[in-house]
Amino acid sequence: MSPATPEHGAPTTAPQYWDKYRPQRQRPSAQRFDWTGLADDGPGEEVLGGPKTALDLGPAEGENAAFLARAGVEVTAVDFSAVQVERARSFWSDLPNLEFVHADALDFLDSDGRLFEAIYSTWGAVWFTDPDELFPRIAKKLGAGGVFAFSHREPSPDQYGPQRMGGAWLEGREDELIVLRWQHPPEQWSDLLKRHGFAAVRTRVIPSPERGALGTLLITAKG
Ligand SMILES: C[S@@+](CC[C@H](N)C(=O)[O-])C[C@H]1O[C@@H](n2cnc3c(N)ncnc32)[C@H](O)[C@@H]1O
Repeated sequence: MSPATPEHGAPTTAPQYWDKYRPQRQRPSAQRFDWTGLADDGPGEEVLGGPKTALDLGPAEGENAAFLARAGVEVTAVDFSAVQVERARSFWSDLPNLEFVHADALDFLDSDGRLFEAIYSTWGAVWFTDPDELFPRIAKKLGAGGVFAFSHREPSPDQYGPQRMGGAWLEGREDELIVLRWQHPPEQWSDLLKRHGFAAVRTRVIPSPERGALGTLLITAKG
């Protein structure tokens, strides 16, 4: 039997998978800081406690990072998708205090020497990276009393730990690409954060405006 021909343009790595995310978008408006990805009146940038410096892990097109930069925050935004970084740079080249770095979040945290007053991730790298690898690195990069905050889809009660993602490019392929996301219920995230030295952990679910749909889990902690 001959080997299956790889699907044309199919991603073979996680960064390539994310290269395909939200193709052909216009520059977003960046009118508000958005934890949910939905038009809601939920919490905004105040969750971050008014930092002067912030690190965005997994910004994609960088709308939240741009909102903060416009408000005067010095923002560094790290994404491992070359396509997302190139697009974000083209969208926001008018903001001198916003830097997009093309790197894996873990590698960046290991190699960059700066401390940040806030580190956040909206449905971003924190959702897609083993927290036992990521959290100790984030703890080292937060200045004293700094805020770590992240959001992702509200997990179903039976979801715990790394879950294989489904959907386009990931299902029904001969040459498998596996992309994981870490789904924990709020209590479990809270335990994990405390185990890695974070304090003042707060978890909340922002309900979806769509009836019956899962909401967004938003978690904050202090370094
Ligand atoms: C679902 S998108 C979220 C984008 C954006 N934060 C938002 O709120 O719309 C996930 C992003 O995280 C990035 N990402 C995932 N894992 C990453 C990692 N280990 N290091 C850096 N970026 C990562 C992906 O490339 C992608 O751009």
